[in-house]
Amino acid sequence: MEATTSLLDAAAVGDLVLLDPLNEESLLRTLQERFKRGDIYTYIGSVVISVNPYRSLPIYTPETVQEYHNCSFFAVKPHIYAIADDAYRSLRDQDRDQCILITGESGAGKTEASKLVMSYVAAVCSEGEEVDKVKEQLLQSNPVLEAFGNAKTIRNDNSSRFGKYMDLEFDFKGQPLGGVISNYLLEKSRIVRHVKGERNFHIFYQLLAGGSPQLLQQLKLRQDCRHYSYLNRESSGLPGVDDAANFHAMQDAMRIIGFSPAEVTALLQVTAVVLKLGNVKLNGSFQAGGMEACSIAEPQELQEICGLIGLDPSVLEKALCSRTVKARNEMVLTPLSVPQGYHSRDALAKNIYSRLFDWLVGRINTSIQVNPGKQRKVMGVLDIYGFEIFQDNSFEQFIINYCNEKLQQIFILMTLKEEQEEYVREGIKWTPVEFFDNTIICNLIENSKGGILAMLDEECLRPGVVNEDTFLTKLNQLFATHKHYESRETQNTRHIMDASLPPHCFRIHHYAGKVTYNVTGFIEKNNDLLFRDLSQAMWAAQHTLLHSLFPEGDPQKVSLKLPPTAGFQFKTSVATLMKNLYSKNPNYIRCIKPNETKSAMLFTPELVLAQVRYLGLMENVRVRRAGYAFRQLYGSFLERYKMLCPRTWPRWAGSEREGAELLLAELPYPPEELAFGHTKIFIRSPRTLFDMEKRRQDRVNQLVTLIQKMFRGWRCRTQYQLMRKSQILISAWFRGHAQKNKYKQMKRSALLIQAYARGWKVRRAYRKYFRSGAGARLANFIYRQLVQKFLVGLGRNLPSLSVMDKTWPPPPYKFLTNANQELRNIFDRWKCKKYREQLTPQRRALLQTKLCASELFKDKKTLYSKSLQQPFQGEYLGLTKNPKYQKLHAVAKDKLVMAETVRKVNRGNGKTVPRLLLLTTEHLILADPKAAQPKTVLSLSNIQSVSVTRFSDGFLALHLKETSTGGNKGDFLLISDHLIELLSRLHQTLMDTMAQALPLNITDRFSTHFQKGDVAVTVVESPQAGGTIPICRKRGSNKMEVLVH
Ligand SMILES: Nc1ncnc2c1ncn2[C@@H]1O[C@H](COP(=O)(O)OP(=O)(O)OP(=O)(O)O)[C@@H](O)[C@H]1O
Ligand SMILES: [Mg+2]
Repeated sequence: MEATTSLLDAAAVGDLVLLDPLNEESLLRTLQERFKRGDIYTYIGSVVISVNPYRSLPIYTPETVQEYHNCSFFAVKPHIYAIADDAYRSLRDQDRDQCILITGESGAGKTEASKLVMSYVAAVCSEGEEVDKVKEQLLQSNPVLEAFGNAKTIRNDNSSRFGKYMDLEFDFKGQPLGGVISNYLLEKSRIVRHVKGERNFHIFYQLLAGGSPQLLQQLKLRQDCRHYSYLNRESSGLPGVDDAANFHAMQDAMRIIGFSPAEVTALLQVTAVVLKLGNVKLNGSFQAGGMEACSIAEPQELQEICGLIGLDPSVLEKALCSRTVKARNEMVLTPLSVPQGYHSRDALAKNIYSRLFDWLVGRINTSIQVNPGKQRKVMGVLDIYGFEIFQDNSFEQFIINYCNEKLQQIFILMTLKEEQEEYVREGIKWTPVEFFDNTIICNLIENSKGGILAMLDEECLRPGVVNEDTFLTKLNQLFATHKHYESRETQNTRHIMDASLPPHCFRIHHYAGKVTYNVTGFIEKNNDLLFRDLSQAMWAAQHTLLHSLFPEGDPQKVSLKLPPTAGFQFKTSVATLMKNLYSKNPNYIRCIKPNETKSAMLFTPELVLAQVRYLGLMENVRVRRAGYAFRQLYGSFLERYKMLCPRTWPRWAGSEREGAELLLAELPYPPEELAFGHTKIFIRSPRTLFDMEKRRQDRVNQLVTLIQKMFRGWRCRTQYQLMRKSQILISAWFRGHAQKNKYKQMKRSALLIQAYARGWKVRRAYRKYFRSGAGARLANFIYRQLVQKFLVGLGRNLPSLSVMDKTWPPPPYKFLTNANQELRNIFDRWKCKKYREQLTPQRRALLQTKLCASELFKDKKTLYSKSLQQPFQGEYLGLTKNPKYQKLHAVAKDKLVMAETVRKVNRGNGKTVPRLLLLTTEHLILADPKAAQPKTVLSLSNIQSVSVTRFSDGFLALHLKETSTGGNKGDFLLISDHLIELLSRLHQTLMDTMAQALPLNITDRFSTHFQKGDVAVTVVESPQAGGTIPICRKRGSNKMEVLVH
């Protein structure tokens, strides 16, 4: 959100494409405003403009790295990390090799930018022990190369004095594998000379400041910089730079990269040799023939140098002070004058150092190189010295500016020219945008037939007197009318007075400004020749490293062929570089220097405007505004995005263009966002592209899930089927096995039964032939004997015939148990029968009554057990004997069953009165004992039921039927001393006369029906009642309690 706001902030838009109005002034104002806010990065589409802040900003923290990791380019604030992330992701995900082109003038921040890109990529690519080691090695190459290849210049305290192109190599997952560094033309003249206010290469100061006393002693160095004539004598230190600390950091870095201690020592020894060479002083003299000659003034330094490199000092002295010349097939030793001697000394120092630097790069490459044959993706980072305009510009500046010119050409070609040409080629409607094409300047310099470099080479090779004047004259002739070439001569012919053009100079109108080059030294620097005597002397040294730096010094391999010139070499390497860059997808970081004084917060509009102009930023914005951010061949486009449309996924059979059209028609982009060329699709804004990428990513996730799902399903199904098959197989085998077992079992059983049956049949058939029947017979006989003995014994010892005697002898053998029991039963029954047969009829009747009593009352009424002892007499009154009862006797006649005295309970108050009770076969008669007159005569048929208690009392309730004649007063409550006998006899009589059982209730609670109403009778257990005589108590009008004991 913040980023979007910042992109659209009218005063300081983040993307200059959005500028309104678009002119130089607004562009400059925007850059200035953003610079003021500390927003040093601004976009033109996907090109990043970086304005050097000259102060450390808090925008490179690990949190920022995380913020930009996998970010959407336009969804975050403009940042160098965004372009690095975009490039890395295109490399990893789309398999497109990338190059990051960092351009800008010296001090604009290129090297810093390249380091930021590398550190970002290192931070976001995957981790692991091996990967971290590679990352560390790649990152640590920077301090080493900076120590040897950077120096303080007027423009920049850490100016790169060599061009660097580094290929970072990754595997298909985006993990770093290693890299390759290419270096371009080190400014070696700095070794021997630099302008006031600048310094030599950092390594010398670092070594002297940071080297331990032992190391310095070993290298025969003094700590004081002022001692060395090659070093700046006025000021050695730099504000804010700790040379000693940097030296230690550099040493650590070398260790991490993989330099052995011996290698480091050798490297420092050679470095020390270079430094000490500057202190070799020469003395002038004259030889016999009057020829100037020179000799070593102070042998001490020379001896120390030779001590370091293992060389005879006289060899070096000879090489430094004289030169072998071939004259008429004869080798002649010519002495050198003092200036020539110094020249030769300096040439040696420069050569040693530049070769040492090449070795250093080669050594780092050995450590970080990737094994050949590994598939890799490449991200190139180009940090080449910036465009330079000095007061006095020499061959080096010419070469440096040529290189920048070529880079500008790439930029123009890729972003302006080619892009526009492509639109026309593809048939896209297009209004051309004017821009300056610097091909003409490049041609002026590099044209192999008539370019400045070719002319220079020609002069170098030409026999005869060769000097810069003839070279300049040639240029003046050739380019007399060239728009971008000027010199005093050409201006004169054009009749232009130009005081700013001194003699011996020519001026080129570079894309970034006019630069006047002094031709002095051009030829020599281009030739870059080292006297053979010197290289042979170096080769002769015992120091392995130094020895290896001068292979041409081997006298066996003397070659008369001239080595290629410096200009030619540089041109070739630039051409290779350009080819390399063209083959990759470019990402631009255009660095701008805001002021000349390296001050933070100072923005000099004129200076920035000049850079904006020569960098072609306005044209860049215009083309970007009118053009399309993205283009791709239909085929590749379809391949990448086909999953976004169901009709093109997974395969599209039609033409690629139709497929792309169909696919884009499915997506919600306005038509002006897209243009369909002949072979390519064009997408206008990066936003659309990022949106497509986002959709693709989401879709890919879905598809991955789908594939995963299908695969898992398939795997489970196959496994299930396999399990099922196995299960079926196992159960088939198991069932078979079980059936087999069962069959075997059955077979065994059948055979067994068969065997038994057969055996039995055979035995039966053959029994008569065998003695086997004897056993059974014997057994039968014995059994019979035993039974006979048992029965006879039993007959003799029968128990007594008393029915009460239950004894019986036990069976003598177990097999006789049942028979014995049966016999006992028979005997019992027989005994009882006998007993019954001898009974008199009276006794029999009595016993029957007793039996009846038992059936009615046993275990139901406690009184029953008491009645067992009592004989049932029936007649307790003595009716026949007592004349008083004659009348009653007459009534009963011979139908009398029982007669006794009972107590009748008064229905009203529960009190009792004596009554005579007579039971005949037809009636139940109650009589007054005094008058012996029947008071109540009840027909037995009127008795409905009888209720008695559970206890041992004689209480009974005689319930009468409602229709009974005698029962007009209701039920009778009586107390009898012979209750059990009375009711047993009543029952028997009813059975005999009416074949009906007496309904008897043995209960604690019953209801009686009296004339005055029903009375509920409750039986209560109480100690008040004594014996068989209960106490009746009336409770209220319809309740009565019978207290029993
Ligand atoms: N992003 C940045 N943040 C803070 N300081 C920076 C940044 N970029 C550059 N600088 C400062 O500017 C100085 C010069 O930058 P740098 O060395 O990258 O320039 P250069 O373009 O490589 O110059 P040359 O062409 O001379 O090598 C750095 O030493 C540093 O102090
Ligand atoms: Mg640099």
